[in-house]
Amino acid sequence: MNVPDHVAIILDGNGRWAKAKGMPRTYGHMKGCANLESICDDVRDLGIKYLSVYAFSTENWKRSREEVEALMRLFRSYLKRCLKIAERNQMRVKIIGDISAFDEDIQESIRKLEDFSKDYKDLYFQIALNYGSRDEIVRGMRRMAEDIRSGKASPDNIDEDFIGTYLDTAGIPDPDLLIRTSGEMRLSNFLLWQLAYTEFYFTDVYWPDFDKAELVKAIEYYNNRDRRYGGVKEG
Ligand code: IPE
Ligand code: IPE
Ligand code: MG
Repeated sequence: MNVPDHVAIILDGNGRWAKAKGMPRTYGHMKGCANLESICDDVRDLGIKYLSVYAFSTENWKRSREEVEALMRLFRSYLKRCLKIAERNQMRVKIIGDISAFDEDIQESIRKLEDFSKDYKDLYFQIALNYGSRDEIVRGMRRMAEDIRSGKASPDNIDEDFIGTYLDTAGIPDPDLLIRTSGEMRLSNFLLWQLAYTEFYFTDVYWPDFDKAELVKAIEYYNNRDRRYGGVKEG
């Protein structure tokens, strides 16, 4: 099996998974969060080098206050627990998205986790929190405009690579495979620039049930794709 270097996942369906069991949505988020821990172990076992997950979007603040608060509580405990997961998997953790919207203690946990894990090299784990691709582009282009205004950069510098350096994912290769669970077939504002040539895999499985066997199915699908990048397939 040819394993992709970078797998991105839109982890969706926690609420429906819980509803199907007659449980509150927040129970689904708890299980989804536990699943995030085991998928990191699986990804590392399979030799995938980069994993990016969409955990909270800029649009997700519109959910009920109760649900947003439950998610914040979950982030608080997960970010602490993630120190152990990072150590166990020798994984570097990076949060993408605008973290300034979170309470100060959450921002502090993020900084601590990123700093603690910065020298680990087996797996690079990006978690998108308060992330929206359009917001990322707006923030990045503002910084670029400032650099041009101050003379640090010039309009002549602008090309695709240069734009990439202003995104939250700067320095990280684009995903090879994108997985979205729970049967939805849209990007919901995730990595619009970075997914330009990525293979997409959609499954009806809800995120809390997405295990290693399901991940292997997605990779097998990826293996059977005929990747052209605008050219003609060789052989
Ligand atoms: C994904 O599950 C997790 C987050 C967006 C936080 P959902 O909460 O979107 O679950 P469904 O789509 O309502 O089932
Ligand atoms: C996308 O899922 C965002 C995350 C998984 C964090 P949503 O469930 O929020 O997206 P929509 O509302 O179905 O597009
Ligand atoms: Mg959803």
